[in-house]
Amino acid sequence: MSMLLEVRNVTKRFGGVVANDSISFQVKAGEIAGLIGPNGSGKTTVFGCITGAHPIDGGEIYFEGAPISRLRVGPIARAGLMRTYQQTRIYGEMTCMENMQISSRDAHGSVFALLRMRARGVETRANELLAFVGLHEKRLHKAGRLSFGQQKLLEFAMALMSEPKLLLLDEPTAGINPTLINGLIDRLKRANEELGVTLLVIEHNMRVIMNLAQHITCLAHGKVLASGTPDEVRNDPRVLDAYLGAQ
Ligand SMILES: Nc1ncnc2c1ncn2[C@@H]1O[C@H](COP(=O)(O)OP(=O)(O)OP(=O)(O)O)[C@@H](O)[C@H]1O
Ligand SMILES: [Mg+2]
Repeated sequence: MSMLLEVRNVTKRFGGVVANDSISFQVKAGEIAGLIGPNGSGKTTVFGCITGAHPIDGGEIYFEGAPISRLRVGPIARAGLMRTYQQTRIYGEMTCMENMQISSRDAHGSVFALLRMRARGVETRANELLAFVGLHEKRLHKAGRLSFGQQKLLEFAMALMSEPKLLLLDEPTAGINPTLINGLIDRLKRANEELGVTLLVIEHNMRVIMNLAQHITCLAHGKVLASGTPDEVRNDPRVLDAYLGAQ
């Protein structure tokens, strides 16, 4: 497998806080990779660096072998690199919400219209993807009326609509009813296997990430602490310490 994404010595500071301190890891084409680490260890910041949301202070990022570190969000997304957000909640009456792919304006649109507007004239695909995430029956509902878990599925479908090569998912199971988590894991695996989308998943739920990812990188205090197979990472004493120390 060739490398789809290479993060090399990436550093990102916010004022005096070094959120990412010379981070390096790679994602192979076709795999599901995991990114774990205690709260505040720098995981979401890495996603911002990769997708062009944060200009980086050091290092290089390569996507399909080409440098993307100096590109902004739009060109990076068009190259096939998309993300979903840690917090996705559409509030019907809210006028402004940061950091969401589904904006408050979108909340008033129907589920189907939201997908279709991503690319005109592709209604069949929108219907297929709504069926894929289990929202087809809700396609005429207002997006703002969906449950939190359903909104996350909608955001996932919206990202898939652009046919990304690499999709970064920031805590896709957070806030989702435990009984629905297995269904979501199954859909992530199917997106990987059937739609050919490479995934990089930030996840706090150890059972989920161990079951999903083939390769895991663990961050602590902005640095890479360990990386390897789920078994290697799970049994690494430094990883156990980082999690226990963070309790
Ligand atoms: N926009 C920002 N401005 C200032 N500091 C920030 C910003 N974003 C993140 N930070 C800081 O950078 C560090 C890493 O934050 P980040 O959100 O990347 O962690 P995380 O691993 O995603 O945490 P969590 O598991 O809680 O989501 C934290 O100290 C955080 O306070
Ligand atoms: Mg985060």
